[in-house]
Formats: sequence, C-alpha cells, structure tokens
Amino acid sequence: MSSQSFDICVVGSGPGGYVAAIRAAQFGKKVCIVERENLGGVCLNVGCIPSKAMISAAHFMHRVKHDAPEMGFEIKSDIKLNMKKLVDWKQSVCDKMSGGVSQLLKGNQVTVLRGDATFKSKQELTVKTVEGVVSVLAKNYIIATGSRPIEIPGFQIDEKNVLSSTGALAMDELPKSAVVIGGGYIGLEIGSYLAKLGCEVTVLEASPALLNGVADRDCVQVVERKLKKNGVKVITNAKAKSYEKSGTDYEVSYEVNGKNEKIKASKILLMVGRKPNSDQANLKAIGLQIDEKGFIKVNSQRRTNLENIYAIGDIAGQPMLAHKASYEGVLVAEVIGGMNRAYDVKSVPAVVFTDPEIASAGLLESECKEKGYTDLKIGKFPFAANGRAVSIMETDGFVKIIADAKTHVVLGVHMVGPEVSNLISEAVLAIEMGARLEDLAMTIHPHPTLGEVVMETAEAALGHAIHIIQKPLRGH
Ligand code: NAI
Repeated sequence: MSSQSFDICVVGSGPGGYVAAIRAAQFGKKVCIVERENLGGVCLNVGCIPSKAMISAAHFMHRVKHDAPEMGFEIKSDIKLNMKKLVDWKQSVCDKMSGGVSQLLKGNQVTVLRGDATFKSKQELTVKTVEGVVSVLAKNYIIATGSRPIEIPGFQIDEKNVLSSTGALAMDELPKSAVVIGGGYIGLEIGSYLAKLGCEVTVLEASPALLNGVADRDCVQVVERKLKKNGVKVITNAKAKSYEKSGTDYEVSYEVNGKNEKIKASKILLMVGRKPNSDQANLKAIGLQIDEKGFIKVNSQRRTNLENIYAIGDIAGQPMLAHKASYEGVLVAEVIGGMNRAYDVKSVPAVVFTDPEIASAGLLESECKEKGYTDLKIGKFPFAANGRAVSIMETDGFVKIIADAKTHVVLGVHMVGPEVSNLISEAVLAIEMGARLEDLAMTIHPHPTLGEVVMETAEAALGHAIHIIQKPLRGH
C-alpha cells in the first residue's frame, strides 16, 4: 500500500469540497481531494446543474409553444421532443462543468485521488482506487461527503421502478405520466419541467401544503396556480404508502384524509428529502460526534469534536444548499490558513426553480414575529407593473419586503417571478449590511429591468411606490 502525506485532505468534491480544496491551495498548502464518483458531486452531476439544464430546456419549449404565437410567430408544425438528445445535451453541460472543476484543481496543484475513502483513525484514511489502496496522512481533514435521498416504507429507490432525482434526470424517454411523491424542492422542480415537456404529473404531498414551512405562503400560491395551469395535479395531505406493478405501469396507494386511494402512472419519482452520509467512511468509529439527525456536530468554524477534522456542506447541517457548502468551504480553508473567521451570516438565500421561481432571503413574516418584531412594515410590488416583465411576457409574481417598522431595517425579502433567482442577491446584500428600506428605495436601479421591482417594493413599504396606486402619505 502506497502512502502519501498532505497538509489538508478534503473528502468529497461537491461545491463544498472542491471550493475548500482550491481555497486551501491558494494558501500554499499541499492539498488532496478524494472523490469516488465524478468531480463536482451531486450538484454538478445529478443535482443543481442538470436539473437547471432540463428546467430551462422545458421552459424554452413551453414558451415557443405558448408565448411565441402571441408575439407573432406562426409555428406551422408540432414541436417534437427528442428526449434522448435533450438528455445528451444535459449531460454535455454536466461534463463541461465537471471538466472545469478538474482543470481548476489541476491549475491549483491539488492532487485528485479517485476512489472510496475510509478513515482508519483521526490521522489516517485509506482510498480504494482502481490501482490499489492508497494511505493518506494529513494534518487536517475536511469532510464534505454530502447527503443522499431518503426512502420511505414501501418505496425502495432502484432507479428502475422507483426513481430518485438522479434517475428522473436521466430518463431518455418522456414517460406518459408520473407520480411525484413529495411536494418539496426537488419534487416541484422536476414535476414542473416534466409537465412542460408533456408528461401528466401528479404530486402527492403528505403535509397540508407544498413547500410547507420553507417558503412564503403568498409566493407558493403563485406557483400553485401556475402548476394547475400547466396541468400538474397536486394532492395535499396525501401520504404515499406502497405501490404495485400494473402491466408496464405502476399503481401507487396513498392515504388522503384517512381514506385509501390509488393512482396509476408510468413512473414513480420519490422526492421526500435527503439525509447526510454520516454512516459512511467509518466516521463514527473514529469518534466523530454526530447528532440525532445524522449531521456531524461542528462549531462556528466548522471544526468537529476532533481538533484536526472539519465538516462542511450537507453533512454538517441544514440548510442543505450548495451555496452554503461553498461558503463553508472557503471559511474552513481560511481558518486552517490562519485567518480569523467564523460562520456568522444573517441570511442563506434559498431558491426553488419552479415556474415562476421562488427566492427568499432573511426571515419569513412568522419568523419575524417569533423573534420579537411585533411591528412590521411590509411592501409588495407586482411584476405585472414592471415594463421589463411585461415586455418579456413574464408577469406572474411579486416581490415582498418585510422591515422593522421602527427602524426600517430590512428583515426578510421573498420573491416569486421571473429571474428572482438572480434578483435575490441584492436582498441578501441588503440584509447582510443591515440596509434600511430607504437604502433600497434611494438606490438608482437601471431601467428597464426586473431589478426595479426590488426598489419599487421598498418604496411601496414606505408608502410611495410610483407604478402602483397607493394612498398618499402626506409628508413622506
Ligand atoms: P424536501 O424536504 O424539500 O421535500 C420533501 C417533501 O416530501 C416534504 O414536503 C414532505 O412532506 C414530503 N413527504 C414526505 N413523505 C411523504 C410521503 N410518504 N408521501 C408524500 N409526501 C411525503 O425534500 P426534497 O425535495 O427531496 O429536497 C431535499 C433537499 O435538497 C432540500 O431540502 C434542499 O435542501 C435541497 N435542494 C435544493 C434545491 C435548490 O436549492 N433549488 C433543489 C433541490 C434540492
């Protein structure tokens, strides 16, 4: 068994791990990264990036079919979908991104070890590569091994009968119909694009609402209306129980309001959450403390109970979002590099890539109340009153800003509408900098852009938006 020594060994090359490795190398550290699958992890290969490729392709096709005729384009024949070609294109996007990560690691002199890592002790791990087992000795370890889909009783993911997001993103034939179990982030993103491509989609959601507790209710309502318009059937309070094969189709049994019901579909997609991979790589045996939900316990510098081991990303706690993992990757590399850093953020933005998109930063209205903000100033402004939104024919949705009525400090921003995944960054900056409504309202936003909606929402909260009718407040 060959042996190699490093300053830092990063386990896992997702948006947490590869970012940590590059930032650590920038400090002149000798770094290696271990990956058993493709570079870039779930996000680049089977998560964020491929789903966004499929979502934009489906949106494009949908717009050509539904919006182009209104703009004056006469489409003479039916648009035919070549699903195999679409999936190949999506794969080329992932390959390009994963190749980019490989180049960046190489350019930063990071050693890439391909294989499964197992900790032998807190000082050593072994990597099972195709050439044989390699022993790695590092001064510091960064665990960034992520999470995997949860299964529920009656449904075992085999990517044949029951598909996870990985299988769903790789289907090279569009199913006639699909039952999506779980109306959360993944279920709604995948369900939405399948419906736009022409699949009959039914979403079964166990709780009373879609995106329950994770998004602003008014924002979710806009998405619910659009789902309905796009032919997606949503059944809430519906708990999936089991399934049976029925010819080439499947019959899914579910319980809704105490009654047993059945639904037939050509595919079953299981999207009921993810769990951290803390039961792998021998993490428990070396003495790492893991909480009751399976997350590795970390402090504000993302250090575990073992002094030389750090953990970041999905394995180190909620929210399980790629950008939070990358942020932690930079943070840990800088801590090891000698900088005085700690995780102390006011807002981790969240985006659901539905149609329209939902994006949020800071506190929900209910959370403001829980935190003792009793008097709130809330402004809301619709995309329908924005020139750019009208000219691109994407007017569904609005921006909502919640501020402390006394100080006008922005506490939360919730958006649903076109490009809100991009617009939310201004809100995150505002919250991080403790901006007041006046800061957003008195900042010149270029015209004609969707970004003006953020400015007008701040004005609306202050009572004087220009492009909606508000009762004039004398003296303001
Ligand atoms: P989720 O937690 O968002 O949603 C799962 C849903 O399944 C819940 O609403 C739950 O009530 C429902 N459910 C559970 N058991 C059920 C049953 N037996 N029958 C019917 N419904 C049932 O989990 P999801 O969508 O799998 O996503 C996992 C995580 O991945 C998210 O929490 C998020 O952190 C991350 N993610 C982020 C994305 C983004 O940033 N755009 C996109 C996709 C995933």
